[in-house]
Amino acid sequence: MKYARIEIAPSILASNFARLGEEINAVEQGGADVIHVDVMDGHFVPNITIGVPVVASLRKATRLPLDVHLMIEHPEEYVEDFVRAGANRVLVHQEATVHLDRALAMIRELGAEAGAAINPATPVVMLSDVLRVVDTVLVMSVNPGFGGQKFIPVALDKIRQLDEWRKRYNAEFRIEVDGGVDMQNAAVLAQAGANTLVAGTSIFHTPDATAAARQMRKLATEALSQRV
Ligand code: DX5
Ligand code: ZN
Repeated sequence: MKYARIEIAPSILASNFARLGEEINAVEQGGADVIHVDVMDGHFVPNITIGVPVVASLRKATRLPLDVHLMIEHPEEYVEDFVRAGANRVLVHQEATVHLDRALAMIRELGAEAGAAINPATPVVMLSDVLRVVDTVLVMSVNPGFGGQKFIPVALDKIRQLDEWRKRYNAEFRIEVDGGVDMQNAAVLAQAGANTLVAGTSIFHTPDATAAARQMRKLATEALSQRV
């Protein structure tokens, strides 16, 4: 299978923004594969975070792929700016656009990887007609807007459903999970079929982000090796 290696994607939302470069360096040392960047507009979600200029600065601070999670309305109006700023992967929410297929095609045409995200209340079936044109499906395991929330278990069923679908149709999209991912559930998520674990609090709100990233990789990789 294409995505045999589990990816650890620290979410900088939980990091110290005044020391962003050092925080990224710390997780890079711990073997992080991707940097997850949460963009919020105060409309699609009840919080405001960061935008294009921060992505441009991050691009200069790391060689790791930037996984830009757009929690914004009208995402298609902004995908070009984010890709030009250095986003390698752009994730748009199914709930945020009536033209999901078009938004995904735009991302790919711009040369980035395209991801479709679903909120906890959105069933996987809402993505069935785009599963052939996505590089990633992002299963939200909290209601987006804030870090530090509790994992919502329905996400686990969704990961399993997507994994089934992927096997049945011989598809190759990555399954990413975001929200409440920690050292307790990393193994079960990897076993269920998740390929990319996004983790903010459980990596950055620790005394040693390097060690936390390394620990999560270890737990997930061991679990993956036991997967049938
Ligand atoms: C939530 C964001 C997440 C968030 C996860 O809206 O999409 O990426 O940073 O944070 P934790 O890992 O703390 O749940
Ligand atoms: Zn996110």
